[in-house]
Amino acid sequence: MEKLYIKGGREPLEGRVRISGAKNAVLPVLAATLLTDELMTIGNVPHLNDVTTTIELLRQMGISVVIDERMNLEVNSSTISSFFAPYEVVKTMRASVLVLGPMLARYGYARVSLPGGCAIGSRPVDIHLESLRKMGAKVDVEDGYIIASAPYMRGADIELPGRTVTGTENLLMAATLARGVTTIRNAAREPEVVDLARCLRKMGADISGEGGDVITVRGRERLHGCGFDVLPDRIETGTFLTAAAMTGGKVRLENTSAGLVDTILCKLTESGAHINTGNGSIEIDMRGERPRGVSIETAPYPAFPTDMQAQFTSLNAVADGSGVVTETVFENRFMHVQEMQRMGADIVVRGNSAYITGSRRLKGAPVMATDLRASASLILAGLVAEGETVVDRIYHIDRGYECIEEKLSQLGADIHRVSA
Ligand code: EPU
Repeated sequence: MEKLYIKGGREPLEGRVRISGAKNAVLPVLAATLLTDELMTIGNVPHLNDVTTTIELLRQMGISVVIDERMNLEVNSSTISSFFAPYEVVKTMRASVLVLGPMLARYGYARVSLPGGCAIGSRPVDIHLESLRKMGAKVDVEDGYIIASAPYMRGADIELPGRTVTGTENLLMAATLARGVTTIRNAAREPEVVDLARCLRKMGADISGEGGDVITVRGRERLHGCGFDVLPDRIETGTFLTAAAMTGGKVRLENTSAGLVDTILCKLTESGAHINTGNGSIEIDMRGERPRGVSIETAPYPAFPTDMQAQFTSLNAVADGSGVVTETVFENRFMHVQEMQRMGADIVVRGNSAYITGSRRLKGAPVMATDLRASASLILAGLVAEGETVVDRIYHIDRGYECIEEKLSQLGADIHRVSA
């Protein structure tokens, strides 16, 4: 089992770092390749375990995926021979449920394992299933599998009972090949949904309204292949900005976009950061100062992202003053708190809020990552803690951050990976 060793409490992070393509954008785009039997070429793909898992799933289904040395992918799904996503894959990566909508729309049948709960909450997919039923599909759950079939998908007017990112994406993909018009109300507005719509439109889909509450899709008989570059990862962007803020550093992020991280930049400015944005770049300068405590409340886009909650908990733990972090998206996303407390953080959780009083110094300790963003927050805490922090179970971090230790080392951090 690999671990990350971090010697913290030293120099502020300084330098430049290149942001990778977005995990949560590339996964739906890979699923969208099922909607055409023509060649899809995908660029700006991050080298992540979740991407490898999705490629493995597509290959198991008989689809050809060719990867070049720069991680450009060529996907040809004309050779598909199975419409099955097994439990072994879906249990490691919930986003595999994204193959359901496209498979059903294009081939009229899909058998996909039910994802089940995960560390951050129960995370049901009831909204995905109910919406596909409204489009005429027969959807049953048997022995832990979703079995869905439909001679064709039918356009429908669907009001989602809750905002769901992958639910909106599944429905959006299914609607591109449906007969008639589909209206998705209370749609998720996340940039990754917009990016998927941009890709589908390049494939010939007729979509309008993405980025707003109502998305309208006029079904087409077929879609075609295209080349598509995935948008930058806004959570990786936010994580590096927070790392710079916590260490009092000065860092320039490249290949990203300030428009993707507005709320995060506002909160960092409130905590004392000086931010300069350019075309494709963001520079943060703390001028050697310790950040001030800030309060945040997570909610669907465009509000503050739940995927940055743990990192801001970490920032508050070392800030001057105090902050309240409230989580409204997932019911159990404070598991990093216990680990931070072991590093000396002063945090009290009541209900869905964490009350944090910043400490000037955290102490390095062995800690355990419980999910992807929790692992990131513990690494950030380790950067500013006195002494050595050892982060265990880092397979979580490899799911969603490309070369995190190389990128942090490039900025001057003392961090390295050890295989036990
Ligand atoms: N929900 C339901 N029923 C459904 C679907 C969702 O009750 O059918 C609930 C969930 O339990 C949750 C809320 O709705 O309480 C929002 O969940 P959502 O469906 O939006 O989450 P998701 O699509 O499963 C994506 C990201 C997550 C990110 C969330 C929220 C991908 C692949 N994953 O998950 O990313 O936290 O949206 O923004 O896009 C991460 O990258 O670390 C990560 C967990």
